[in-house]
Amino acid sequence: MALKEQLAQWAAEVAAVQFNTAEEVEAFRIQWLGRKGKMKDAMADFKAAPNEEKRELGKLINEFKQQVEQRVAEGASSQAHSEGDDAAQFDWTRPDGGIPVGAHHPLSVVRREIIGILERMGFVVSEGPEIEDDWHVFSGLNFPEEHPARDMQDTFFVDRNPDMLLRTHTSSVQVREMEKREPPMRIIMPGRVFRNEAISARAHCMFHQIEGLYIDKGVSFADLKQTLLRFAQEFFGADTKIRLRPSYFPFTEPSAEVDVYWGLETEVDKRITKGTGWLEILGCGMVDPAVLEASGIDSREYSGFAFGMGVERITMLKYQIGDLRAFFESDMRFLEQFQGQR
Ligand code: DAH
Repeated sequence: MALKEQLAQWAAEVAAVQFNTAEEVEAFRIQWLGRKGKMKDAMADFKAAPNEEKRELGKLINEFKQQVEQRVAEGASSQAHSEGDDAAQFDWTRPDGGIPVGAHHPLSVVRREIIGILERMGFVVSEGPEIEDDWHVFSGLNFPEEHPARDMQDTFFVDRNPDMLLRTHTSSVQVREMEKREPPMRIIMPGRVFRNEAISARAHCMFHQIEGLYIDKGVSFADLKQTLLRFAQEFFGADTKIRLRPSYFPFTEPSAEVDVYWGLETEVDKRITKGTGWLEILGCGMVDPAVLEASGIDSREYSGFAFGMGVERITMLKYQIGDLRAFFESDMRFLEQFQGQR
């Protein structure tokens, strides 16, 4: 066979060869490029060829040799890869990447900060169940049967027992604590709550609240206001101003919603405060005497205040986070930004 045809046939052979082990790659290398390999034969044929063909043949031989060398290189690297866990192949001198340091979830950072402030004011932490009965979530908190107030919160009920439901607020823990303890009591109750809501940038079916309850002789609305002012100034800064707006909750009388003054300087301020400069942070009020009595506390002897705030809402305000869903997506690019937070 003339050298030209021979090279074409070898090129096809070399292109088709498959390697399963590093030894096969080495055998291939020796077969073609070794001291007694086929390239040597090709060179001998080349020397014997007529001079006028040498130009073309030389080019073909060079291309073929490059093809063989490339197959050897590819084979060697793919075999080294597949045997990479073999201790002999492992480069022990390679510097490691270090152990990545985790970060607290922003909701944990804020929950801990809120709890810390209230603990320093003498509140103690208590928790209650997420799956609750109607009494602790609604009836014990003065939500009358069939009263529209129950519609304020879209509830997930347990199919097999409609008296059981996922708590829609942490206020349920107030009832448990009042049933369990004797006044005076000063308690904060953090936890998850659930509502049957379509998930959006501003609403979720699961979120977190922190509830506060203070019951003693002679507790007044002034105590409530001063406690919340102090809390807001510790959390948002010493110059923070608050205002209380009359509101309605079945379990407090009077009831109020608390706003912090955010400012109206930038376009963002205008947008998030809807042009008012104020942002709502929580609901509160004086515990309704009917609620105290329902849990066995004498309302002629004791009075108290309660408040409840959404942890997501406060975290969004503090860190200017625009979409509630970011908290639940576990996107590292979001979570890593809280590295180094307390
Ligand atoms: N439970 C209310 C809610 O989920 C928040 C709330 C308002 C809690 C007033 C309170 C309170 O303790 O006094 O919307």
